[in-house]
Amino acid sequence: MSNCGRRVESWVDLYDLPTILKDKPVFETLDTLPADAILGLIAEHRNDPRDNKIDLGVGVYRTSAGETPVLDVVKVAEQRLLDQQTSKAYIGTAGDPEFNAAMQRLTFANPALDERLMTMQAPGGSGSLRVAAGLLLRANPDATVWVSEPTWANHHPLLGGAGLNLKPYPYYDTASHTIRLDAMLGALSGAARGDVVLLHACCHNPSGLDPSEEQWRAIADVIVERGLVPFIDMAYQGFAEDIDRDAFVIRHLADRVPEMLVCNSCSKNFGLYRDRVGTVSVLAEDTSRRDVVHSQASNVVRTMYSVPPDHGAAVVSIILSDASLRANWLIELAEMRDRLKSMRSLLNDALESKAPGADFSHLVRASGMFCFLGVSKEQVAKLKTDYGVYMVDSSRINVAGITEANVEYLAESIAAVL
Ligand SMILES: Cc1ncc(COP(=O)(O)O)c(C=O)c1O
Repeated sequence: MSNCGRRVESWVDLYDLPTILKDKPVFETLDTLPADAILGLIAEHRNDPRDNKIDLGVGVYRTSAGETPVLDVVKVAEQRLLDQQTSKAYIGTAGDPEFNAAMQRLTFANPALDERLMTMQAPGGSGSLRVAAGLLLRANPDATVWVSEPTWANHHPLLGGAGLNLKPYPYYDTASHTIRLDAMLGALSGAARGDVVLLHACCHNPSGLDPSEEQWRAIADVIVERGLVPFIDMAYQGFAEDIDRDAFVIRHLADRVPEMLVCNSCSKNFGLYRDRVGTVSVLAEDTSRRDVVHSQASNVVRTMYSVPPDHGAAVVSIILSDASLRANWLIELAEMRDRLKSMRSLLNDALESKAPGADFSHLVRASGMFCFLGVSKEQVAKLKTDYGVYMVDSSRINVAGITEANVEYLAESIAAVL
């Protein structure tokens, strides 16, 4: 055994820390990493004294008052939980079976698949992606995971950092603001049998552009023909069209493939960001394979965070199992979705009048919280310095930062830098 270049004869020697540290403090080997781009942007926006500043960078939903409120149904369910909860003892590695069953129904809506499906509570969408990565690494460490170009900024560090081998497939054409379907299908046709394809179920982050049902069917055809494994990230169910239509690709593929993985996040659609609520689901060939996968996934969890956090999942479970709370949740979800849609239209309309000749119609073709504005890095910088309009370098914007009150100024600022 060796530690810091010094031979250590037994673990007992490790207690001789002062001597070892004198040789070389262990953290001296580390360097400071560059600040996270979005966190840096949030701080810059916070410190900007201008009254008319606009934040289009941050990745959470906001109301027209600029708030990210707790949903009313969440408040009711939390009160119920507070009144009824009798213990804070550990929950099982796989979480609460009732929550898992409710999330499985919300996602797949097909009881006929129950015998082949397992669903596990996980700490948010990110936690569920990390569990899925652990599972994939055990099942096929040599598999390539194909990810859209571009994709959510955290997919690479999260999945690649876990040890998966990632490769990009073309997805978004920045010039025409359309999906590069042929190029995508071409790339996936060259994938090896058993390779994994990461798809965004809806509200593609960062582009906001989702395939139509017809395009999804064509993508599914290639997946089936090539024997690929779909790995679907659904962080925005209900933010594009509705709960069912947003799950189209999952349900379509579940009818056609022997195996697939799905990661859900309840951060956005239940507004439970900091409570860390999500699930990882695996569809297996049959019940016995499903049980094997369950035992392996449980072990991945056990060796990572042991058991998931429970408060947010218990809240979701209460909401989904109570007809009236569920109906009210769907109303609140629709309010968020409709506000995002109307802000897209408002900005597009305002730009039509302030910047005639420029085409921003892709703003309304996209859905969910994000899309690219479609301006250069230099224009992004000018928007920030000259107008106090903040967005990430790629010009990805969070349309939840647009309000009736700021849209005119926003459109004028954009028109001024074009
Ligand atoms: C595409 C995508 N997947 C997963 C996540 C992770 O969500 P969570 O906050 O639940 O970890 C996000 C969050 O922004 C996302 O955009």
